[in-house]
Amino acid sequence: MDMDKLVSLCKRRGFLFQSSEIYGGLNGFWDYGPLGTELKRNIKEAWWRDMITGHDDLDAPAGAPSAFQMVGLDSTIIMHPQIWKCSGHYDLFHDFMVDCRESKKRYRHDQVRGRWVSYQGKRAFVATQFGGDEGLAETEQKGLKFFGLRAKDAERLAWEGDLISLTKVADFAEVLGPDAKALGTLTPPREFNLMFKTYVGALSGEEGAAFLRPETAQGIFVNFKNVVDSSRVSVPFGIAQVGKSFRNEITPRNFTFRSREFEQMEIEFFCHPSQSADWYKYWRDRRYRWYTELGLAGDRLILRDHHQDELSHYSCGTADIEYAFPFLPPGEFGELEGIAHRGDFDLRSHMEGKLVREGDTLVVVKDAEGKPRHRGSGKDLSYYDDITRERFIPHVIEPSAGADRATLAFLCEAYTEDKVPDENGNPRERVFLKLHPRLAPVKAAVFPLVKKDGMPEVAQKIYRDLKKHFNVYYDEKGAVGRRYARQDEIGTPYCITVDGETLTSGTVTIRDRDTLKQWRVKVDDCVAELSKGLGG
Ligand code: GAP
Repeated sequence: MDMDKLVSLCKRRGFLFQSSEIYGGLNGFWDYGPLGTELKRNIKEAWWRDMITGHDDLDAPAGAPSAFQMVGLDSTIIMHPQIWKCSGHYDLFHDFMVDCRESKKRYRHDQVRGRWVSYQGKRAFVATQFGGDEGLAETEQKGLKFFGLRAKDAERLAWEGDLISLTKVADFAEVLGPDAKALGTLTPPREFNLMFKTYVGALSGEEGAAFLRPETAQGIFVNFKNVVDSSRVSVPFGIAQVGKSFRNEITPRNFTFRSREFEQMEIEFFCHPSQSADWYKYWRDRRYRWYTELGLAGDRLILRDHHQDELSHYSCGTADIEYAFPFLPPGEFGELEGIAHRGDFDLRSHMEGKLVREGDTLVVVKDAEGKPRHRGSGKDLSYYDDITRERFIPHVIEPSAGADRATLAFLCEAYTEDKVPDENGNPRERVFLKLHPRLAPVKAAVFPLVKKDGMPEVAQKIYRDLKKHFNVYYDEKGAVGRRYARQDEIGTPYCITVDGETLTSGTVTIRDRDTLKQWRVKVDDCVAELSKGLGG
C-alpha cells in the first residue's frame, strides 16, 4: 500500500490534519478532523466496551484462570512529581540524542543508520534516517555528492556492507550527518529526558516543577487503594484508563505513529503473585485477539515475545503486538501495544521508594548516605484477602495500547483499491476503506436517487429515523455513482437509496460497501436491517 495515498485521503476527507497547520505546523502533533474523531472514538469505545462495561464478571472468560472484575478510572495529566521519581521516569525515561552543529537538527542516536564508503583513500560514514532500500538509495546519492562524483561514476565508490546503526560508530569525526555537507558535525550522544516539564501555580522555580504524564498507568497505581476501598472490587481485578500522554520524542515521525501528544488505552490488572504467570498469558492472547476481531489479521499482525535480555529490570515477561505498517521497510513491524508482567514493582515503588532489581529481588535505590534516593508515599498499598485471610502486594499485568497507533493501523489495513465496472461497464478505479462496521465513522448514508418526485422527503424521513440509532449521513447532491464513491472512500458500510420503486412498493435498496451487492428492504425495516449488518 502506498502510504502517501492514505495520508492524502486522511487530509482530503478530514481524518487527520497537521496541528497548527495555518502557522506552518508543529512537528509531532496531529489534529483529528470530523471523520478521524469518529473513527478514534469508535476504537476507544470498542476497547472500553469489550474490556470494561461489556465484561461479564460472573464467569471466567475462555482461557482465564477465574472470573474477574473490570472498572474504569480518569486520573489527572499532571500529578505529584514524586510519582515520576518512584516510577523511574525521572531517572530513566530518556533517549540518547545527537545534535548536528551544521544543520541544527537533532536525531535519536539509535535511529540514525549509515554505511561506510571510501574513495581515493578517504573514508566516510554516510548517515541517513531511513532504513531498507530507501536508506541505501539515500546514502548512495549522498556519497556521490560528498565526493563530487556524478551518477555515472557510482562504481568508483567502495561501499562496505549494509546499513548499520550509528550506535556502532565510536568516532564521529568521519560521520557525515543525515542533513550535513561536512564530516564530523554530530555531537557525542547525550541523555534527553522525554517528559515535558511545566510549573504549577505561582511558583516558577524547581519547587513548582511538575511533568505532563508520559503514560496513564501511574494514575492507576497511585489510586489502587482508593479503588479497592471504594468499589467493592476484589483481587483479581483490573483498572482501565484512556487518556492523553505526552513524550517529547526527539524525532517524531511516520505520520501519527510517533507523536509528542497521543492517547493511551491502559489496563493495570491486579492479581495474586502465584497466578500472575497465567494471567499474563491470558491478557497477551486476549489483547491479540481483540485486534484480529476488529479486522487486523493475516501476516501483518504479530504477537512477539520479548527476549530475556529485552525485558525491563522488573519484568518477568513482556510481549508486543506489532503491525507491519506500510512506511516500515519490508519485514519490520511497529508496536501497537505492549503486554507486560510487572510483578509488584509499581505498587512497591509507590510504597517504599524507587526500586531496582538486584539478582532475584527488588531493592530500594539508596543515595551515598544510604537514604532512599526517591522516597515512596509510605502508604500501605498491600491487599488483604478476606477469604484466604492473606495479605500480599498484588502482581500487575499491564496491557498498554496506543489509541493513535491503533487508529493508524486500522486505517492502513482498511485502505483498499480495486476496479469495478462503471455505468457503461468499463472498469473504474475504486478506493474504499474496508473498516470493521463497529469502527466505521459513518454507518450508513441515505440518498434520494434524484432530487424530485418526493424522493428527498422519503429519504429524509429514513435518515431521521436511522439517526436516532446510528451515525448516518444524508446526501442528495450529484450523480448517485459519485455519492457511492464518496462513502466508499470514508468506509461507510451501507448506502440506502430511495428510488422510483420506493414510492410504489415502499422499499429501498441497501448497498454493501465491500461486496457491492444491492438488495431491497421495506422502509420500516431499515433500522432492523442495519442493526443486523452492523452487529448491534
Ligand atoms: N505504561 C506502559 C507504557 O506506556 P509504552 O510501550 O511506552 O508502555 C504503550 O507505550 C503504547 O503507547 C505503545 O504500544 C504505543 O501504542 C503508544 N505510544 C507510546 N509512545 C507513543 C508515541 N510517541 N506516539 C504514539 N503512540 C505512542
